[in-house]
Amino acid sequence: MKTMQLINYEGNSDSFRLVEKEIPEIGDREVLIKIHLSPINPSDLAYIRGLYGIKKKLPSAPGFEGGGTVVKAGKESGFSEGDRVSCVAPTKGDGTWSEYMVVPPENCIRLIDSVSLDEGSMLYVNPMTAYAMFEEGRKKGHTAFVHTAAASALGKMIHNLGKKFEVPVIHIVRKSEQVEQLKNEGREFVLNSSDEKFQKELFKLSKKLNATYCLDAVGGEVASKIFATLPYGSELVSYGNLSEKQIDVEPGIFIFQNKKISGFWLSTFLPSLNQEEYKEITRKAQELLPECFRSEIHSSFTLENVPEAIEYYKKNMSLGKIVIRPSGTPDG
Ligand SMILES: NC(=O)c1ccc[n+]([C@@H]2O[C@H](COP(=O)([O-])OP(=O)(O)OC[C@H]3O[C@@H](n4cnc5c(N)ncnc54)[C@H](OP(=O)(O)O)[C@@H]3O)[C@@H](O)[C@H]2O)c1
Repeated sequence: MKTMQLINYEGNSDSFRLVEKEIPEIGDREVLIKIHLSPINPSDLAYIRGLYGIKKKLPSAPGFEGGGTVVKAGKESGFSEGDRVSCVAPTKGDGTWSEYMVVPPENCIRLIDSVSLDEGSMLYVNPMTAYAMFEEGRKKGHTAFVHTAAASALGKMIHNLGKKFEVPVIHIVRKSEQVEQLKNEGREFVLNSSDEKFQKELFKLSKKLNATYCLDAVGGEVASKIFATLPYGSELVSYGNLSEKQIDVEPGIFIFQNKKISGFWLSTFLPSLNQEEYKEITRKAQELLPECFRSEIHSSFTLENVPEAIEYYKKNMSLGKIVIRPSGTPDG
């Protein structure tokens, strides 16, 4: 099989090497998946630079998320040959930027018939993260939300969830053209963090809507300003750090304004669920897919072109998903 290996954590085009290797054998509690598609996510960009919460022994294939067809199923895996699955990479060994990947059954979700393989390949990470964080906010009693990096794929999902469950969302982007674009797509409250009046506008709007729950993927100055500005008792959930900068907080905000900062990581959230809860979230992700969780594919690359795909993605993150198709042609 062909595999795109990462050979060092410098994360540049010389950090990759395409190799041919034997298709791996599987154990009784494992499945072999022929990978159909793998989106490049911000976590992949952080991983190849050694900045993610998981660091594997190299060389090995990166790629955290994907989908495909089970071609061999261990007898205790609970899967069968031909099952279509959404999957995430194991914590050791090759990931999804490879023609085949071996994983334990808990890394796979069997797709229902109405979900296509393209859709299923982007079902695991963003839909479940968006749904889990959104539901957590509602359970805690927050009635209006704030979301940063709102032009992202996950941003669209939070918007759709807000619409479905009638929760107003203040969407924050960093470019004026994105304000227009998101408004044209039907988002009512959109602010630009690069505007001089950003904090003033956020103060007024968050007070009016009582937006006390912020899902933040940016960190740094933007998160620091938002946290300082939101109403009394607000919570900021840090689930990404696209700015790669720290959040500064004046302690009085914790002490006198009763605000909190927490974190969310799908990799620790999912294992914390019991079997019923896990089943429920995987069911919800598929059930709500047509209404809330579709990700647009902007362009497809082959395995050979992973370095180019990464460079393209870095410059065009808001255009839609840039995907790798390890088993097919670019349009495959
Ligand atoms: N914690 C978890 O378990 C978990 C799970 C899933 C996703 N996530 C996080 O969710 C976020 C969105 O993921 P995605 O797949 O939806 O992303 P995506 O579709 O690839 O889009 C990334 C977005 O981030 C924006 N961005 C990039 N750098 C930025 C910066 N320095 N400041 C502000 N905005 C910036 C881009 O906007 P521009 O056009 O302005 O560049 C783009 O809209 C990421 O941070 C990802 O790591 C976390």
